[in-house]
Amino acid sequence: MTDKTRIVISSDHADIAMRQAIAARVAELGYEAVDIGPTTSESTHYPKHGEADARMVASGDCALGILLCGTGQGIMMAANKVKGIRCGVCSDTFSARMIREHNNANMLSMGARVIGEGLALDIVDAFLGAAFEGGRHGTRVDMITAIEGA
Ligand code: RB5
Repeated sequence: MTDKTRIVISSDHADIAMRQAIAARVAELGYEAVDIGPTTSESTHYPKHGEADARMVASGDCALGILLCGTGQGIMMAANKVKGIRCGVCSDTFSARMIREHNNANMLSMGARVIGEGLALDIVDAFLGAAFEGGRHGTRVDMITAIEGA
């Protein structure tokens, strides 16, 4: 039994080592890092990994999710098909902070072939260190959620 906030992390084959470094940073920050693989760099299909990660967030099993693929884009698109998921691709720390503060993003995606490991870890820090501001941003996020039911 743990009272640590659980953060689920997944990727495709683009960079297993970077994903493992991200999982290590998440654990260093005091969260429970739930790394759901894959474990090898054998070619795989990013939609299934994005979906698996997103379903663990949508179910409430994990509070937040982090994804990695070559560009961060395909795996983000798959995650955003799961009801309740708000996932953004970030290549800078400002966006990583803002998707939490303004968009209440519950998932972060990054491109392992776009950014280096140092920046990826800074982006993770920015994402996890930020909190949703609510207020007028809550109204807008509610409007996003309403589209899911339309
Ligand atoms: C895999 O080659 C690549 O297409 C994938 O990692 C990602 O960039 C897709 O969006």
